[in-house]
Amino acid sequence: MFKKIPLSYLVILIIITSVITPAQKPGTVGSFKYSDFKKPSYCGSCHKDFYRQWDQAMMSKAYTHHWDEIEYFKLAVPHAEKDEKVAEVREGCNGCHAPISFMAGDVPPPLPEMNSRANESVSCEVCHSITGFTGDTPFNFNYVVDPGKTKYTSRLGDTQSPAHEIKVTELHKSGDFCGICHNEKSPFGIWVKSTHLEWKEGPYAEQGVQCQTCHMPQAELKTAAMGATYMDAKTHLFHGAHDPGKVKGTIELRINPDIVEAEPGEKVKFTIALFNQKTGHKFPTGSVEDRILWMHVEAVDSKGNMYHLPVDLKGFEGEEFTIASDVLAYQDMGIALGIENFEGVQRDGVPFGDRIFRLPYFDPQGRMTMQQWNTASLGVDYRIGPRETKIETCTFNLPDNLPPGELKVTAVLNYQLLVKPVADFLNVPEEESNIMEVNRHSTVVKILD
Ligand code: HEC
Ligand code: HEC
Ligand code: HEC
Ligand code: HEC
Ligand code: HEC
Repeated sequence: MFKKIPLSYLVILIIITSVITPAQKPGTVGSFKYSDFKKPSYCGSCHKDFYRQWDQAMMSKAYTHHWDEIEYFKLAVPHAEKDEKVAEVREGCNGCHAPISFMAGDVPPPLPEMNSRANESVSCEVCHSITGFTGDTPFNFNYVVDPGKTKYTSRLGDTQSPAHEIKVTELHKSGDFCGICHNEKSPFGIWVKSTHLEWKEGPYAEQGVQCQTCHMPQAELKTAAMGATYMDAKTHLFHGAHDPGKVKGTIELRINPDIVEAEPGEKVKFTIALFNQKTGHKFPTGSVEDRILWMHVEAVDSKGNMYHLPVDLKGFEGEEFTIASDVLAYQDMGIALGIENFEGVQRDGVPFGDRIFRLPYFDPQGRMTMQQWNTASLGVDYRIGPRETKIETCTFNLPDNLPPGELKVTAVLNYQLLVKPVADFLNVPEEESNIMEVNRHSTVVKILD
């Protein structure tokens, strides 16, 4: 027999449940409604500067940016529909790129041209509703959220907001917060994005330098139009690889010869030091499968003739992926595009013999891929770590007819967001494959008669 539950117990139970709801819960597919989240323009009516900053950052374009649209709709969705193993990305990409649509169960979301709420991308409400993450490691959009009257952030502030309440979390001032979307595991269990893990293992995390320190730099500013001025207002710049100014100077480059005077026919060895002075993680990081960073070395003699100096090989395993060459890759794009026996496109699209600082991703067949969701293994990690200095050499066998006078040798470090042959093949707007110069340095050798 069941005992009768006294009414007073029930009342207490109801009070308790109404205190812990609206529940903080994992933001999974369909766990919330669109109407649970306010629009960024609403927040922007009072938080004017932050709104403008966010609006110019990639954060507000994570769904609408053209390359994202192409990769999701042309490659990921059709691939997910053809291959059970990667089926989860049909929904999953949106967990980070269109979180509100994901949580509203509107996946795949309408195309960007439909101007739906998916276009809000990573909005104010997404980040300020996050209360934590599930498990020990932030990755794959494992956020726990509580949208509603309360906004979560790192401080209470001096002014009361007429629009909402504030709750302080430790998470918002920690790089762990960013890891929720800046670490990603593929359906094969491979870390295909590990910006937070790279940072965590590097020197910056140890010294208390957070992601926010470099991407939300502190300045004297009002955080709300009618609020107080703070000396350490956390700007919402979120500037990264799409800001040429952020990329510029990331690596300092110095080149020196082993001898300063040489005769034609002699050998001169140039040593290049590449020091990562600027990133808190590796460079490149994040969408490593798309990015290409390479060093080009050229000599110009006293008569203006030009010589391309390929980098000396070091002999480590997998080095062939770090030397630009004439090979094809990315054959697995053929699955989504319905091209049988697709031969692929040029792997690098940069001058042969140049050094590439990269981490190659491989599909289940062992071919190099730029589809991170189809990544079953990784190759050699030859990127430049935070505060790491890489040394490269180029040996120049001086031609017998080299004219006397100054031989000027220049090392240039170049960067593209997307490998050029892939960008051309998929008709991705040029801005995604323009060459950004990270840095350059020159030295001279005197050629004797
Ligand atoms: C009607 C104006 C108004 C609207 C709309 C508004 N806020 Fe605020 N908010 C404020 C004011 C005022 C403060 C207090 C600012 C201060 O500390 O001086 C504040 C504080 C905050 C804080 C705490 C940090 C701080 O500066 O004190 C966060 C986080 C925040 N708002 C997020 C949001 C988000 C997200 C939205 C949209 C869902 C939003 N706000 C909408 C006025 C507004
Ligand atoms: C990608 C996540 C993210 C997005 C998107 C985002 N914020 Fe923030 N915001 C943060 C974090 C994290 C902090 C706290 C940073 C810290 O303490 O280092 C913060 C802090 C704030 C603060 C308090 C600033 C201070 O100095 O204490 C306000 C106000 C705020 N955000 C409003 C907004 C508004 C308005 C938007 C949309 C236009 C927005 N945020 C979008 C992550 C985000
Ligand atoms: C809810 C998921 C989410 C969270 C949380 C998040 N980000 Fe992002 N972030 C994204 C997405 C998605 C993009 C990619 C935009 C695009 O499509 O290029 C992005 C882009 C960026 C970029 C621009 C990269 C570029 O190529 O220019 C920076 C910088 C950045 N995030 C830093 C941060 C920092 C710092 C934090 C923590 C304070 C953070 N993010 C938290 C999802 C998130
Ligand atoms: C010491 C400063 C510093 C710290 C700390 C730092 N970054 Fe960066 N970050 C940079 C610089 C400089 C760049 C531009 C060069 C590049 O693209 O890597 C960058 C680039 C990025 C990009 C763009 C990468 C791409 O190719 O799209 C993202 C995303 C990013 N950072 C996120 C983070 C996150 C998340 C953290 C913390 C886990 C973090 N950063 C910590 C300095 C920093
Ligand atoms: C765990 C979160 C997460 C998931 C899941 C995710 N992304 Fe991203 N994506 C990001 C972040 C963060 C960035 C940008 C920052 C960076 O490059 O480090 C990014 C960058 C990109 C870029 C490059 C944008 C540019 O302008 O260079 C494309 C394209 C992209 N994602 C498409 C996808 C597709 C398609 C899927 C699903 C197969 C997907 N993403 C799944 C977080 C995620």
